[in-house]
Amino acid sequence: MSDDQQLRRSKEQQTADISEAQIAVHWPEEDYFSPSATFIAQANLTDTSVFERFSLDRSPDCFREFADLLDWYQRWEKTLDTSNPPFWRWFVGGKLNACFNCVDRHLAKHKNKTAIHFVPEPEHETVQHITYQELFVRVNEFAALLRDFCGLKAGDRVTLHMPMVAELPITMLACARLGVIHSQVFSGFSGKACADRVVDSESRVLITMDAYYRAGKLLDHKEKADIAAAESAKDAHKVDKVLIWQRHPGKYSSPTKLVEGRDVIVNDLLRKYRGKRVEPAHMPAEAPLFLMYTSGTTGKPKGCQHSIGGYLAYVTWTSKYIQDIHPEDVYWCMADIGWITGHSYIVYGPLALGASSVVYEGVPTHPDAGRPWRIAEDLDVNIFHTSPTAIRALRRDGPDEPAKYNYRFKHMTTVGEPIEPAVWKWYHKMVGKGEAVIVDTWWQTENGGFLCSTVPAIHKMKPGSAGPGIPGIHPVIYDDEGKELPAGSGKAGNICIRNPWPGGFQTIWKDPDRFVAQYYARYCKDRKSKDWRDWPYMAGDGAVQAADGYYRILGRIDDVINVAGHRLGTKELESAALLVDEVAEAAVVPAADEIKGKVPDLYVSLKPGLQASKEIANRISAAIVSEIGAIARPRQVIIVPDMPKTRSGKIMRRVLAAISNHQNPGDVSTLANPEIVDKIKELVK
Ligand code: WTA
Repeated sequence: MSDDQQLRRSKEQQTADISEAQIAVHWPEEDYFSPSATFIAQANLTDTSVFERFSLDRSPDCFREFADLLDWYQRWEKTLDTSNPPFWRWFVGGKLNACFNCVDRHLAKHKNKTAIHFVPEPEHETVQHITYQELFVRVNEFAALLRDFCGLKAGDRVTLHMPMVAELPITMLACARLGVIHSQVFSGFSGKACADRVVDSESRVLITMDAYYRAGKLLDHKEKADIAAAESAKDAHKVDKVLIWQRHPGKYSSPTKLVEGRDVIVNDLLRKYRGKRVEPAHMPAEAPLFLMYTSGTTGKPKGCQHSIGGYLAYVTWTSKYIQDIHPEDVYWCMADIGWITGHSYIVYGPLALGASSVVYEGVPTHPDAGRPWRIAEDLDVNIFHTSPTAIRALRRDGPDEPAKYNYRFKHMTTVGEPIEPAVWKWYHKMVGKGEAVIVDTWWQTENGGFLCSTVPAIHKMKPGSAGPGIPGIHPVIYDDEGKELPAGSGKAGNICIRNPWPGGFQTIWKDPDRFVAQYYARYCKDRKSKDWRDWPYMAGDGAVQAADGYYRILGRIDDVINVAGHRLGTKELESAALLVDEVAEAAVVPAADEIKGKVPDLYVSLKPGLQASKEIANRISAAIVSEIGAIARPRQVIIVPDMPKTRSGKIMRRVLAAISNHQNPGDVSTLANPEIVDKIKELVK
């Protein structure tokens, strides 16, 4: 055999059982794309000395520059307090208000400027352009209602279960004005999922909307509030008040009845608060701004607690320099405010900079794949931000649509999942018309804002790679034994961040031990140390760093499936399946999907003596939708005679994942029941 043949043969043998992460490493390197001279000429950040200013040895003091973008009632005394690792405290002693920074401070110069463009999904409905002055008025009136009618005060938690409407940022900002901690739950989540978050955060007030439009239908949303309240009661937690915004002001659009003494129509009650003004609370930088629940390795979603000062400073700086937002820009992030991307890069970052931010209610491809480009043309959007899942769908349904519309993006973002180079290139050529720069931003709910990305006017772009750490962020890749992989080695390992940064979450709500265990324990160098250098943050993603310093993110190393950019815990799905009486065991694995990146496949075995049936499979699917929400619906429910198991009885999810993805499951001879593998393959065909 020639060397060449031998090499090929050994590669073939390897691919038989190597993991997806390792396969990704063999992807070819892509060519670079350069930002245009026009973009560079207007960019906020072109000075390459920024990297020196934010070098590791200048950390944490360098982050003063972030906080200096905000208005403070009282300047902070200490940039970073490390006395209780890894519970970092940023800008200690400082006082500020997030709502003041996003609204009031813009009034002097920009009161007549649009803060929020609300685009309803039905195309015949008029777009609302809410100026900073109007935002100020509406936020104040609603804050007065929250304070005087609900009795809410700084430090209380409130759960929001609201769709993509202008009332959502208004509600968040009203909470922030009072120092009330908001916890917005993605509107697509079920009433049950909402209840879990209400109970965990001990919210006495739930704020929702009667209905909203999605894919051409007016959905009843209020019914979910009833389920949320009923489910909370089962956990001995009472929801005292449900505040309901009307999707069509003046008209109640839900068939679900109001519950007397509990439910209140906000639009009616607001009349009492006309003209009311509420002084923004002078909040400590370290007080929490909001909770955002996300999936992790165990079943229960965790409430990531974000601070006011550190978080707001971080999203403002990154919006200005990575999103390149100028006050005159029209910026559209097509994420949902129910996720962290929407909090940071629809609401807090853009509004802190006084930009105009677009809030679009519906599905990107409704009524057709030209919709986003019509919106962009009408509003003259020049910065666009979305996910690979949306880009894949728009490319599939209307590959030539963007060219039909007269808009020009200077800047575009992708976030939430790895983007395939071919999809990236369509985004660049068709959506960006070959002119817009693209940033591929890698980060997580826990992080507050971007961690890795190119700086748009400084770095070249490389399709499929996020880029280096942004200024001030110093990533490192460790192997499983805790050894640092050499920089630029191209080897896969676990990506961590060496230093604390202001946007990082403060803790998991009511679960500080889990915070330490999940993010810091594995690579901590000395548990007694008060030096942040000993406490790298573990993100839970696999990654490689190429010789040019760019990181390519390979995906989760834990039990999290990233479906269409949404994080779902496999344990959450499995527990939901086990609620169906007949189910004995459940295992969820990610299956590759052309549009959504990954979708969950659910394998279940039934209790002894029971026959598999379509009816049972449907009930299992329905249980998942009612427990979590439609985004978690499995692609298929496969009822198997038995799970593939090790001799010690562990379910081999890796084998199931290989079957779902039509890959070779490798050597299964060591399983307790190897014969089951072929039977399962038959079922999946
Ligand atoms: C994944 C979303 C590749 C990653 C902001 C991370 C990405 C998880 C990227 C966090 C990217 C996010 N390229 N993968 N640019 N951005 N991810 O908490 O696995 O909803 O851990 O935050 O999404 O998802 P989350």
